Amino acid sequence: MKTWPVMSTSFPVSENVARMQSSATMAAMAAAEALRASGADVCDFGAGEPDFDTPDNIKQAAERAIRAGRTKYTANAGIRELHRAIIDFYQREFGVEYQPSEVMATAGGKQAIFNAGVTLLNPGDEALIPKPYWVTFPEIAVFAGAKPVFIETEETGFVLTAAQVERAITPKTKLLILNSPSNPSGRVLPPAEFRKIMELTSERGIYLISDECYLRFVYPPAEVFSAASLPAELRSRLCIAGSFSKTYAMTGWRVGYALAPAEWIKAMLKVQGHSTSNTNSIAQWAAVEALTGPQESVGIMLAEYTKRRAWLLNALREIPGFKCSEPEGAFYAFPDIRGCLKKDLKTSGDFAQRLLEEEHTVVTDGAGFGAEGYIRISYATSMEQIKEGIERIKNFAQRHF
Ligand SMILES: Cc1ncc(COP(=O)(O)O)c(C=O)c1O
Repeated sequence: MKTWPVMSTSFPVSENVARMQSSATMAAMAAAEALRASGADVCDFGAGEPDFDTPDNIKQAAERAIRAGRTKYTANAGIRELHRAIIDFYQREFGVEYQPSEVMATAGGKQAIFNAGVTLLNPGDEALIPKPYWVTFPEIAVFAGAKPVFIETEETGFVLTAAQVERAITPKTKLLILNSPSNPSGRVLPPAEFRKIMELTSERGIYLISDECYLRFVYPPAEVFSAASLPAELRSRLCIAGSFSKTYAMTGWRVGYALAPAEWIKAMLKVQGHSTSNTNSIAQWAAVEALTGPQESVGIMLAEYTKRRAWLLNALREIPGFKCSEPEGAFYAFPDIRGCLKKDLKTSGDFAQRLLEEEHTVVTDGAGFGAEGYIRISYATSMEQIKEGIERIKNFAQRHF
């Protein structure tokens, strides 16, 4: 009788995947979950998702889609109605006319960025990524065998400048990944600087992914700005990654989109067609309602984030050793806590770990975003939780410093 070799206990993971890091933000979520499961009363500043429920009109659209039997495969690029809704949104808000061949629906903004990165990058290429960055950006470059090249931006308060990009460009530079409003810093790239950066990348033939997942969560005087609003000649190497997750509190539905030149979309459809195919059909119909239905919920969420942000910022600035610049968008504060670090708490990772153990309070270590010495505090949680969490951080700080 044929015998089969006993399977090795160590899985022969591919080289590309072996080079990748696990997500620091997912690790913070898992730590909070484990603590909660043990019965602890956890204050969670780790969440990268709105604490609001998905608006009712969107849920109803999903129910209608199920009842109408819209439960089958769709085209890989998604349903025409969703393309239309996305195109109309960009026309209305930014006066730009995308064609249906330039849009595709994806399983969240993350898949749009992944598709865009892996269809472009070859081994040996360099992808420019400003620090601090969303944890997934370098991993996509690494997965494609390319080299992430980080741009330091601390000297300009985490706001990237065209001069910084220019200094980082080499003959191998293929791609720049921008994210404004930024996760984790909350900083917003001023439109004039955005334009300068795109003039530079266009001139040098460098492609650009603009991750605009927090597009609508901007606090005045900062301005809502999409790279889509720049002239067509600057957009010929641009892919915009958008998402319904944050704007409409739809993180679990998994809908996002890519807007890019038709040839780039065609390549992305190859990748998506052989991996996930279309994103969930019911969620696509819900997303049509999100964009075309009443928009009040977006304003309500933004007003609530605005209140929380103001309170949190004052409270953080009162903690000895904390320095916190004003987040202009998204829903994160990103304080510099280096003033708190000392012998037994050497790193922001030590700080986050001990805060979790001693005060059952979750923050995300800045090192995962390429910013050791910082922590990310999400205010996508209730005011009550924010107040309680800040008390705990104060207690922790008093005990240790
Ligand atoms: C900067 C940034 N980009 C993209 C995403 C992806 O979100 P989703 O895939 O849920 O649309 C996130 C989610 O946290 C994010 O923070």
